[in-house]
Amino acid sequence: MKLLVCGGAGFIGSAFVRVRLAAGDEVVVLDKLTYAGRRENLQDLEIEFVHGAIEDPDAVARAIAGCEAVVNFAAETHVDRSIAEPDAFVRTHAQGTYVLLEAVRSAGVRYVQVSTDEVYGSIEEGSFTESSPLAPSSPYSATKAGADLLVAGYVHTYGLEACICRGSNNYGPRQYPEKLIPLMILNALHGDPLPVYGDGKNVRNWIHAEDFARAIDTVLLKGTPGEVYNAGGPDELENLDVVTRILELTGQDESLIRYVTDRKGHDRRYSLSSDKVRSLGWEPNWLFAEGLPATVDWYRDNEWWWEPIRSGEYRQYYEQQYGLKLG
Ligand code: NAD
Ligand code: DAU
Repeated sequence: MKLLVCGGAGFIGSAFVRVRLAAGDEVVVLDKLTYAGRRENLQDLEIEFVHGAIEDPDAVARAIAGCEAVVNFAAETHVDRSIAEPDAFVRTHAQGTYVLLEAVRSAGVRYVQVSTDEVYGSIEEGSFTESSPLAPSSPYSATKAGADLLVAGYVHTYGLEACICRGSNNYGPRQYPEKLIPLMILNALHGDPLPVYGDGKNVRNWIHAEDFARAIDTVLLKGTPGEVYNAGGPDELENLDVVTRILELTGQDESLIRYVTDRKGHDRRYSLSSDKVRSLGWEPNWLFAEGLPATVDWYRDNEWWWEPIRSGEYRQYYEQQYGLKLG
């Protein structure tokens, strides 16, 4: 099929493009190329690339022409940035999703909205299911929840053939080093301090990006329109446990850990039940015990990918966010 992937130059979108190219699809990528979107993520892949924003109706019209389905990854994705400057989050998630839905409605094609476990908020015990109430707690998760509700409204009102797929915390190659795992790996490889928020006991439910991409693929091909599907990884870990494993894998020790001021409104624990997407035949392939060492190796072997980031404007972002210098 001919498929439009919005936000396909990002971390998970580019993993998904690989899955669909391997299945024989013709892929069009529409991407604004924000700081997190990179042509390097699509290097050597045969795709049609449209540079533009999902909130721009002309760019969307150009990109969607002839496509039989649309999968939307395009988003501002870092919680800390949403706390510092929420405006781009509102624009992309609210206006952008609206413009895409209108284009999908007039093209009459299938649609998958990629979403997050953060729309459910924090959970002390047990796991969220698809019928758990939405209780977002940051500008990031609130605007993602708003986009999900808009999709649901279009399904109900216009009969749009749309599904939503909500993932837990992803890790793997090509993740921008503002997120916990790549940030800690690159800092450890450089002997820089590892900034841990609060007491380091917040829990995240880790899924490899290849597994999340395969879950979205399953929802695209087999999901029932109007339904939501959660895709959580097999492992839940406290942040300190993740950081300690990265120190071991990089040959560093705990003297690099720095406890820093906690994130405002920091969710304590995320956990997703994935029974519903499993019932469509999906299973995760990666355990964290194997995926984390493979991810550390990828960053160690791919300096060409991260060096331009780490030597560019990321340095100012990092120093302002943490009040720490990068070596
Ligand atoms: P990312 O930040 O790596 O990539 C986002 C991509 O979207 C980039 O290529 C960026 O250029 C593009 N983009 C941003 N705004 C755009 C706009 N207005 N128009 C067109 N393109 C735009 O993000 P990611 O981690 O790959 O996340 C992809 C999706 O998965 C997001 O919707 C996110 O909410 C969701 N998600 C992420 C995770 C995670 O742990 N990273 C977990 C669950 C769900
Ligand atoms: O749960 C899915 C979500 O996971 C996605 O929807 C988001 O796009 C993605 O960014 C991610 O959000 P988190 O806020 O959970 O991820 P982050 O990597 O920013 O942080 C993971 C945990 O690590 C969190 O408890 C905060 C903590 N942390 C993070 C950073 C960047 C630190 O202790 N120090 C840090 O420097």
